[in-house]
Amino acid sequence: MKVLKITGNEKLTGSIRISGAKNSAVAIIPAALLAEGETTICNVPNISDIDILEETLKYLGVSVKRASESILIDTKNLKNKPIPEELSNKLRASYYFMAVLLARFKYVEMYFPGGCQIGSRPIDQTLKAFELLGATIKEEGCLFKIEAKELKGTTIPLKMPSVGATINAILVGTLAEGETIIENAAREPEIEDLIDLLTKMGAVITGKGTSTIKICGVKKLKGCNHEVIPDRIEAGTYTIMGALLGNYLKIDNIIPKHLKTLTDKLQEMGANIEIHRDYLIIDSQGKLQGTNIETHEYPGFPTDLQQPFVALLTQAKGVSNVLETIYENRFMNIPYLNQMGANIHIEGNSLIITGPTKLTGTMVKATDLRAGASLLIAGLVATGETIITDINHILRGYEEIVEKLTNVGAKIEIEEIQ
Ligand code: EPU
Repeated sequence: MKVLKITGNEKLTGSIRISGAKNSAVAIIPAALLAEGETTICNVPNISDIDILEETLKYLGVSVKRASESILIDTKNLKNKPIPEELSNKLRASYYFMAVLLARFKYVEMYFPGGCQIGSRPIDQTLKAFELLGATIKEEGCLFKIEAKELKGTTIPLKMPSVGATINAILVGTLAEGETIIENAAREPEIEDLIDLLTKMGAVITGKGTSTIKICGVKKLKGCNHEVIPDRIEAGTYTIMGALLGNYLKIDNIIPKHLKTLTDKLQEMGANIEIHRDYLIIDSQGKLQGTNIETHEYPGFPTDLQQPFVALLTQAKGVSNVLETIYENRFMNIPYLNQMGANIHIEGNSLIITGPTKLTGTMVKATDLRAGASLLIAGLVATGETIITDINHILRGYEEIVEKLTNVGAKIEIEEIQ
């Protein structure tokens, strides 16, 4: 079994370059299937989620050429085939194929998508959007058979601003007849990135970055070139590490606006951050004050940084409170942090953290992607050696994490153990 071995308490200095956004790329790659022809996507992170999407594209007959961080997708031989459960249950984003195949062929068969086990994660809003656009859905266990005689634009009022349902409604709406209006749409930057791609492909979409997205359906889309935005969650994770251990650590290739809620919080806690046009420099002063956070949809505090941020709060002075409002089960890192010496109480969907406490390395398990990042941060500040198991979760979302951290002075390696 592969594990991450970290020897803690090393200062981090130098520069970390942020990769393309996972949650953009996993939507943009399936979206390329809407075009008839070739699409080139640059700044694609080299992570295992992208490998699974590549496998799915090839399974559907699509030609894929990957070179360093770009991917060339040619849909000339795209075939509509039911995507096997082993592929669809490996990641959440697999259900974007539901939308693109429905839009292109008016019929799709697919299983329930996978993704981190951080809550029940239903897909009712996506299915409702498909139905409103004219589809009928048959559910056979985990298999969905979705068919539409015609897809017609309409108003889709989402119950909550779901990222996935907004993306799926946009994907189908671009090729539906007439106008589609998504109300209570999610406003995450990754959705804006997708809209930028679709606009280059010939789609007509307004309201990017707002809660009301309007799409005027077109008959066909064409291929294009697109560069994925930098990953704000990867950037946020390294910025948190910098607040704890940074010695003028540079976090390079970022969009500072996408990190504002985090950098504001860190500055309020006493962190020393210089923010520039596309990079920031963070220096640990060793004296962070505790604070309170509540996760919210963008532009609120991102749920994907809640677990990494909790590792930081264990080192801040005083009592901090965390309220997780998006997922029911995003606290699986807590027992492990407590095992390392943290003082964290779970009360329903909130946490009470008393700090600072000394952390000591031990063997812990990455139960999901961001829980893994949280334990990695704890390992970097802990005394002694931390061993993290189930690291595939971490490698799903952070490109070359060992190399990036080693380059700035961390003692971290992947080891094979029995
Ligand atoms: N929800 C429903 N019904 C739906 C859709 C969502 O009840 O039909 C609920 C979910 O259960 C959840 C909340 O609404 O409690 C938000 O879900 P959303 O649909 O917005 O999330 P998602 O599209 O499944 C994406 C990211 C997640 C990120 C969330 C929120 C991808 C592939 N995943 O998930 O990323 O946490 O948005 O920002 O884009 C991660 O990267 O670690 C990760 C989990």
